[in-house]
Amino acid sequence: MSIAVSTKGDIFLLNTQSTSYAFGIDHLGLVRHLYWGRKIEAVDDFELPELTEVSTNDPVFEITPEEFPVHGGLRYKEHCLKATFPDGTRELVYRYCGYDVEKGEDREELVIHLMDDHYAFFMDLRYKLYPQYDLMERSVVVRNQTEAPIQIEKLHSAQFHIPYENLNFSNVHGHWGAEQQRFVQKVSYGKIVIENRRGISTHNHNPYFVLDQDATETDGQVYFGALRLSGNFSGVVEQTQYGETLVQMGLNSHDFLLELQPGESLEAPAILCGYSDHGFETMSQNLHRFARDHILREGLRPVLYNSWEATEFHVTSREQIKLAQKAKEMGAELFVLDDGWFGERHSTQNGLGDWYVNEGKFPNGLEELVDAVKALDMKFGIWVEPEMVNPKAQLYQDHPDWIYHYETRVTDTSRVQYVLNITKPEVQEFIYNMLDNLLTRYDIDYIKWDANRPISQTGPQRDVWYQHIQIIYDIVKRLKEAHPHVLFEACASGGGRIDYGILGIFDDFWTSDNTDAYDRLYIQDAYSRIYPIKAMRAWVTDCPNFLSGRVIPLTFRYHSAMMGTLGVGCNILKFSPEEMELSQKMIALYKDIRPIIQEGDFYRLDNPSADQYFLYEYLKENQGVIFAFLPQSKVGHRGTTIRLRGLDEQAQYTLHTSKGDMIKSGSYLMYHGLELKLCGDYASAVIQFEKNP
Ligand code: DGJ
Repeated sequence: MSIAVSTKGDIFLLNTQSTSYAFGIDHLGLVRHLYWGRKIEAVDDFELPELTEVSTNDPVFEITPEEFPVHGGLRYKEHCLKATFPDGTRELVYRYCGYDVEKGEDREELVIHLMDDHYAFFMDLRYKLYPQYDLMERSVVVRNQTEAPIQIEKLHSAQFHIPYENLNFSNVHGHWGAEQQRFVQKVSYGKIVIENRRGISTHNHNPYFVLDQDATETDGQVYFGALRLSGNFSGVVEQTQYGETLVQMGLNSHDFLLELQPGESLEAPAILCGYSDHGFETMSQNLHRFARDHILREGLRPVLYNSWEATEFHVTSREQIKLAQKAKEMGAELFVLDDGWFGERHSTQNGLGDWYVNEGKFPNGLEELVDAVKALDMKFGIWVEPEMVNPKAQLYQDHPDWIYHYETRVTDTSRVQYVLNITKPEVQEFIYNMLDNLLTRYDIDYIKWDANRPISQTGPQRDVWYQHIQIIYDIVKRLKEAHPHVLFEACASGGGRIDYGILGIFDDFWTSDNTDAYDRLYIQDAYSRIYPIKAMRAWVTDCPNFLSGRVIPLTFRYHSAMMGTLGVGCNILKFSPEEMELSQKMIALYKDIRPIIQEGDFYRLDNPSADQYFLYEYLKENQGVIFAFLPQSKVGHRGTTIRLRGLDEQAQYTLHTSKGDMIKSGSYLMYHGLELKLCGDYASAVIQFEKNP
């Protein structure tokens, strides 16, 4: 059983395959955290000693490691919940009123019921266990059973306690074109805050925490959690005065206030969390497996061709058909027509909101291109940016009140566009109907949903930062019900919406507009720590790269993009016969190894060399693939040793290297390793291997 309750009924022990999480209800009625770490099966071994205050300045409320600290009383620490009752009371006092265990097919859920001491206001702490993945989802549901609205001013989904100081905190920083730049910093006294205030969640930080004790890929303790929310989030890590580190995440309270009406409830976004005492690899693999099995849509993702970098806004039916023919010749399975096909969209200046096919660009209608793509036996995808409108667009002329704005202020444009106020039902219906009509009228298999600016001037409502993304989730869910075969790609100016919230709603995810194959190695490495490979779209694009100006050999560009879900964004009409031939070879190879890449376990391998090799392994059942990259060799031009992981020590493996096949035992490959030497700039290799029967 995953959930155990102590004999006295006051302690709860939540067990997964190799981890435990425990808390209890103490003599003050506080929900007190007790343990998070390696598995302990004996619930009755846990104790709840009375905590005494250090001094009158360090009250018990401050010292108690609460699972869900609320605002009020002698608590000055970070709280998860702050609410104002209609009479002006801003303090919460909770009472424990029992628990429930709910059982699902492959999970158990513990619900701790808390109630305010005076008002009919309820808080359910939810702990959903996924034992075989060593993961848990924590969230809270607040419910207003009073007769009047209650103002929710802050809602974080959970608090976690880690019984150590001087931990390392890692996350990513960045901006457009430079997303997913991993950073690691020591946690010391004071707070680390990561957040987003822009409505578009993840260019700058990502809603997750990783705290480790000098862990490596395979050793050391790691505590982690990923918030299932796109939009404004915040996370706080604090090393307290009392010998522990606490962390919480949830809705960002910046400019936030949500009126919970009588009878209404609000569920905070869940935090998918876990513990590993085997380093980062276990963390990543558990998250990846869970995402593949429970969050992402089933099936392999197609090799796509996207025409954005080739033609930008200047699309014409004739040229797109030619691109599609070339893409087919190369081996692409899906052709995506990007921005520029609709309204008066010739640049960023106009078009957004006017979702009719531009007749000048498509004189015979969009059907001509769709039919041509279908005749090639390819799938057809199309770009939209439904949340936005250009000031010049007819939609804005007709409905100037459909955008987020203040009556007395000038509304900011960004990329020459406004954000539609999708909290208005008529705007929601407009977006839904526009997409429903598009998908009904044309034989479309794939929607690329873009969002190219942050939100501003939200108008009087202060819950917009939360509601906006919830409404998008709902529209996409409705569209998927009506058009179940269509895949939806989430894109927000590159990787602006990459989080465990969007992962459950969309199917494909644009990692970054930065398609430089070298930059991508860093971006993809950081991405892979939390997000599954199947959710990491990667394109091969032209050189010199439009961002970095780098010129990188096509083989290296392919190898780098083959580490995720492969796409091509080059102007393939300009390809030489050699480039076309190489592309065909690479795409064929990718299709061969695709199940291992998209659905296998992923390993970030160590590089023992003084030269900067990037080494990765994918393993699915008996088959594996190694990727090796050497962007630049240094003086000495050293080779490296690739020590594989996850193999069967006793088994024999056949490796298909450029020098011919080689048979080695699993133990040799893992402990001695495979010698490899790459030469020159931007050298790379892909080595397939399999376990011998
Ligand atoms: C930003 C996206 O990230 C690009 O891939 C492309 O779709 C452009 N928008 C189009 O405007």
